Amino acid sequence: MLLGVNIDHIAVLREARKINDPDPLQAIGIAQRSGADQITIHLREDRRHIHDEDVRKIIDNSPLPVNLECSVDPDIVEIVAELKPHRATFVPEKREEVTTEGGLSMDEPNFSNLDKAIHYLKAREIETSLFIDPTDEAVRGAKTLGVDWVEFHTGTYANIYAMLYTNLSKTHHSIKPLEIERSKLKKLLKEAITQLEEATRYADDFGLKIAAGHGLNYQNVKAITDIEGISELNIGQSIIARSVFTGLEKAITDMKKLLS
Ligand code: PXP
Repeated sequence: MLLGVNIDHIAVLREARKINDPDPLQAIGIAQRSGADQITIHLREDRRHIHDEDVRKIIDNSPLPVNLECSVDPDIVEIVAELKPHRATFVPEKREEVTTEGGLSMDEPNFSNLDKAIHYLKAREIETSLFIDPTDEAVRGAKTLGVDWVEFHTGTYANIYAMLYTNLSKTHHSIKPLEIERSKLKKLLKEAITQLEEATRYADDFGLKIAAGHGLNYQNVKAITDIEGISELNIGQSIIARSVFTGLEKAITDMKKLLS
């Protein structure tokens, strides 16, 4: 299974100080020699971590393919077209969110905006992907839009897992709607995995390439690597968090081993 390493969080650390260190550019060589298959970055409309200049430098220098996450905002799409990453992954964006919460909506006007943006980038030979919830409706939308890839949002699965098997519920970041009986959480976890399995089969039948990501870490990734048909995972927060203690090379190598 391929590993895309999302390096946004290196820029998060830099932006916390508003200086030039640490530079996410430095991660790309380490990622390559640690067995990563792809670099993933997100150019958010609010530029809260990755900046245009980061994207430019990373695309120009990366020995690995670059997967650029972006919204359908026309100004952002124009930047993507100009910078020409290997792949553009469209993600929903809300200014107030901490991270990407939920997959893309297939409702209007989003569907038409996606259609326009996808055609624009495909004409420039950029691979396209949609970050979607694991539902039949979203997969059908992706097929209609003619993208190369879908990336399933694993956030629901990861949240339930964290409430069940880590101390998250004892912290001030406990997820309130998931403060329920453990037996119910276990049922929800099974359902979340089944949903991912079924959506993967559905997307596979349509000939779409399938990735997944969000909230995956060294503990919870196994159930996702067991799903036949998913060929790539994009993982950021847990790898960068571990790298604080182990160094980036070991953090990526350890994750890659779990995917192999
Ligand atoms: N894939 C997509 C499309 C994302 O938006 C993100 C979060 O930026 C990730 C993967 C990585 O998520 P995490 O940082 O939780 O591993």
